Amino acid sequence: MRVLSGVQSSGTLHLGNYLGAMKQHLELQQENECLFFIANYHSLTTVQEPERHRALTHDVALDYLALGLDPGRASLFRQSDVPEVTELAWILSTVTGMGLLERATSYKDKVAKGISPTMGLFCYPVLMAADILIYRSDVVPVGKDQVQHIEMAQDMAGYFNQTFGRPVLKRPEARLNEAPIVPGIDGQKMSKSYGNAINLFDPPEQTRKRIMSIKTDSTPVEAPKNPDACNVFALYRLMASRQESMALEARYRAGGMGYGEAKKALAEVFERVLGPARERRVRLEQDPSYVEDVLQASARRARAIAREVMAEVRDACGLVSGKDTHR
Ligand code: ADP
Ligand code: TRP
Repeated sequence: MRVLSGVQSSGTLHLGNYLGAMKQHLELQQENECLFFIANYHSLTTVQEPERHRALTHDVALDYLALGLDPGRASLFRQSDVPEVTELAWILSTVTGMGLLERATSYKDKVAKGISPTMGLFCYPVLMAADILIYRSDVVPVGKDQVQHIEMAQDMAGYFNQTFGRPVLKRPEARLNEAPIVPGIDGQKMSKSYGNAINLFDPPEQTRKRIMSIKTDSTPVEAPKNPDACNVFALYRLMASRQESMALEARYRAGGMGYGEAKKALAEVFERVLGPARERRVRLEQDPSYVEDVLQASARRARAIAREVMAEVRDACGLVSGKDTHR
């Protein structure tokens, strides 16, 4: 099974990115052919300072490697190192109705948040479909907010195959994990643009402060508490073992435990899960050429697949006479 996913280099990665998307990327690398990329063409829709963009892109690579991406098993590359995706995006845009894109909720959400409504932002789902279809991906693991984009990619594969009368592009499937929406410290969806994120790699003391500031209700210490209505418990359950979660759940229901204690427990599991990755990240920071080598070697593998598929795409739509003219 070929697994593909991307993460934009548009800001500092947070627990929502990890628990909602990257954690399952890393699990899937054990058994599958995995292609993961840093979606830097996509992040150009929001980051247009070149030096900052370069740094953010490098940061996502460091984050993935620190979290355990194994370059011997999975590919990790920059989207822009396979420029063929932009060609496929153009071709897909010629078979995709405006109506489909007009229904995209993420475009409306982003414009409502003040992001400039460029053509790039509007056509974002077409480029994302190209990312997915150019590698004939079987499965695309993402958070819930991306599912509509994957359904659009399914539609676009169908439009292409139907229009050109050949089954060239493969229909992908989305895959969600057990944390489709990770709450932020205010209980809303955790997002870098809502100011409610717990970053993955802040210094430990800063992370602890952030965890201590998670919003809770005013139930007194001695009263029983409902773990299912608590943001602290929601995050704890996603990181702790089953036994640990059951034990903390019992303490909530029994009463006599304040939220401060639950937050301390969360800070401890956070440190246990992410502390070793933070240390790995510090070591990787010392070796930028290793990171660059991984990105380039992965891009070569990915690009070889993309070129083969593009040769079929170009042939199917009558752009060239033979398979090998686009090498
Ligand atoms: P943000 O909302 O912070 O801008 P992105 O849109 O860059 O995050 O998301 C990158 C990946 O992380 C996507 O697959 C997305 O679904 C996932 N993701 C982001 N925030 C969350 C969250 N709060 N819960 C679950 N998944 C999330
Ligand atoms: N749109 C995704 C996000 O904001 C990133 C992305 C770009 C992606 N292309 C993709 C995810 C292809 C999965 C597959 O998180």
